[in-house]
Amino acid sequence: MNVLSEIEFCKTYQNQQINLEDTLILGDCFKILPLIRTSSKIKTIIIDPPYNISSKRIFTRKECDNLNLNFGKWDHFNEETESMDRIITIDDYINYYNIKKEKLSEMKLGELISEVNFLNWIFNLFNELYRVLDDNGSIFIFCPDKYISPLRIYGTFTLGMNYKHTIIWYKTNPPPRFLKNSLANANEFCCYFQKSSDSTFHFLGQKEMRSWFSGIVGGKERLKRWSRKNQKYVTLHPTQKPESLIRKLITMSSDEGDIIADFMGGSFTTPSVAKQENRKYFACEKNYVYFKYGKMRVEQSKTRKYYRQKIRQKEDKKQTQVSINQYLQK
Ligand SMILES: C[S@@+](CC[C@H](N)C(=O)[O-])C[C@H]1O[C@@H](n2cnc3c(N)ncnc32)[C@H](O)[C@@H]1O
Repeated sequence: MNVLSEIEFCKTYQNQQINLEDTLILGDCFKILPLIRTSSKIKTIIIDPPYNISSKRIFTRKECDNLNLNFGKWDHFNEETESMDRIITIDDYINYYNIKKEKLSEMKLGELISEVNFLNWIFNLFNELYRVLDDNGSIFIFCPDKYISPLRIYGTFTLGMNYKHTIIWYKTNPPPRFLKNSLANANEFCCYFQKSSDSTFHFLGQKEMRSWFSGIVGGKERLKRWSRKNQKYVTLHPTQKPESLIRKLITMSSDEGDIIADFMGGSFTTPSVAKQENRKYFACEKNYVYFKYGKMRVEQSKTRKYYRQKIRQKEDKKQTQVSINQYLQK
């Protein structure tokens, strides 16, 4: 495994001293992506970007953890993102949706600005992901329902990709609605695009290939870290994705040995599953704490080969036991 900082990666990759295989980088993907060569052969990109849905409120609950809906700085888009192409303007948005300016209260205008900032940010990212993707590769972008349509339109008509589906992740344990003023948010969405009609696609079985997935991240799979402040283990990452969902995306869109990339890795679910499935992985994360725990997770992930060997060893052991028993009976 290659573990590098953003600066180390920039130096070594430019000098062609390393390739992308089995590499984890601590740094900002917007600095790393422009360096990646178009010929890098990335077969599948899974990207789980910020959703622009954070709330500054913290709900206090009796006898259990507070519910914090502020995921962190990375999920706020109120200010214009610097040094990015303005792909759409507020006026484009107003014209496209025929928005009536007189109906825009100060709060609604703020919401609109934040939406347009987010769209510019994600479209810039989408351009780069498209550029580095192999010609027969696929991209999966997680998003909340409000961004499915803009992403589908941009991917299909601006980039010319094939939009395959929107996969629904139905969460069976959504955070409760304490204010009881709306429905609990139990779904997340993942837009699936292929770069060409030759993009790899494996039909995994009728049941596996339904466009929805139901499950949670729980038990041993949920990563925890020690909090000195609270003197107990707390959830490491607020938006960790289930391994079984990521496994489905990887196995349907790639073959063993292919490179799977995740440029906003969080707790590194994608590289861990890629390793388990005998794929090569490339992932970045800019938060040091997530990176540190995520790296340990990838190191500890075992490949399918390892499990196959373990099963074989068990079977061999069984056989020797049988023959010892047979010997004793004689
Ligand atoms: C929604 S989370 C990903 C969670 C991940 N799928 C998992 O299973 O743990 C998004 C992550 O992107 C990271 N991030 C945001 N902007 C980034 C950037 N420009 N470069 C690298 N990482 C970034 C955040 O720190 C956050 O951990």
